[in-house]
Amino acid sequence: MSERARVFVTRPIPEVGLSAVREVAEVDVWPDDLPPPREVLLERVRGVDGLLSLLSDRIDSEVLDAAGSGLKVIANYAVGYDNIDVAECRARGIAVGNTPGVLTETTADLAFALLMAVARRLPEGYDFVRDDRWQTWGPLLLLGPDIHGSTLGIVGFGRIGREMARRAQGFGMRTLYSSRTRATPAVETELGATFVELDELLAESDFVSLHTALTADTRGLIDARAIARMKEGAVLINTSRGAVVEQVALAEALRSGHLFGAGLDVTDPEPMRGDDPLLALPNCLVVPHVGSGSVRTRDRMAEKTAANLIAGLRGEPLPDPVA
Ligand code: DGY
Repeated sequence: MSERARVFVTRPIPEVGLSAVREVAEVDVWPDDLPPPREVLLERVRGVDGLLSLLSDRIDSEVLDAAGSGLKVIANYAVGYDNIDVAECRARGIAVGNTPGVLTETTADLAFALLMAVARRLPEGYDFVRDDRWQTWGPLLLLGPDIHGSTLGIVGFGRIGREMARRAQGFGMRTLYSSRTRATPAVETELGATFVELDELLAESDFVSLHTALTADTRGLIDARAIARMKEGAVLINTSRGAVVEQVALAEALRSGHLFGAGLDVTDPEPMRGDDPLLALPNCLVVPHVGSGSVRTRDRMAEKTAANLIAGLRGEPLPDPVA
């Protein structure tokens, strides 16, 4: 880097990351919480050396063309990178980095929180009290399935899926998992998890928790057929990407009672609008993609993103490359 490099950052991220990048580059930060409008993104990336993007920014060849041939690195402030055309970046020699490892436990915590909240009907209970409907102790009031002693099916057994298995151990659950690649016997033993095919997992699990990346293979993986295979009264949890689940089929299964409930941190599209049919269902709990949302984790993501960006600007290998 002879002259100071130029970087566009598509949203304010924790200061610990921004200040690291400012030490080595001129940094232009889009100041709003909402993504820059497309034409603004195309304008602001013009001539930059580095781009710090979020999962809600679509980074495709149009953006790469607008940036021009000087663009060396894209650092995504997320572990998922389905928002980026990685193949196109690779073809153009642009490095791409993500933030694995630092948000694993925090995201598994949220997945387990959703599982518990849906099973024990916490949002309904809270509404019940707040609406002044609580008259007496009720033997049949707001009952749900037990968590302990039940079977958890984990779809996708990467870092976050494995942390979900660890949490399930503490609750005395039986854990099944399905994954492209099978974990080692040592990992299976440590986490008490049994490898099965997806169909068997769906048929056997009381709770199904999704932890796959969004790829061509996993888009729509949990469709009407998969949902029909799930146990009567099962619960679906999704903290991966919304498009892994076909939401129309999910709404139907929640409405009919085939599924007891669902807890979603991710939806398709995002944001989900307030009039979405899923939000009219009391057995569907939706939160706004906050799986990694602890103060410390978001700081660590910022540090990792900055490290990727700085390495890329220097022409060095990224600490966490995806391309
Ligand atoms: C990610 O990192 O991909 C999560 O969805 C947000 O932290």
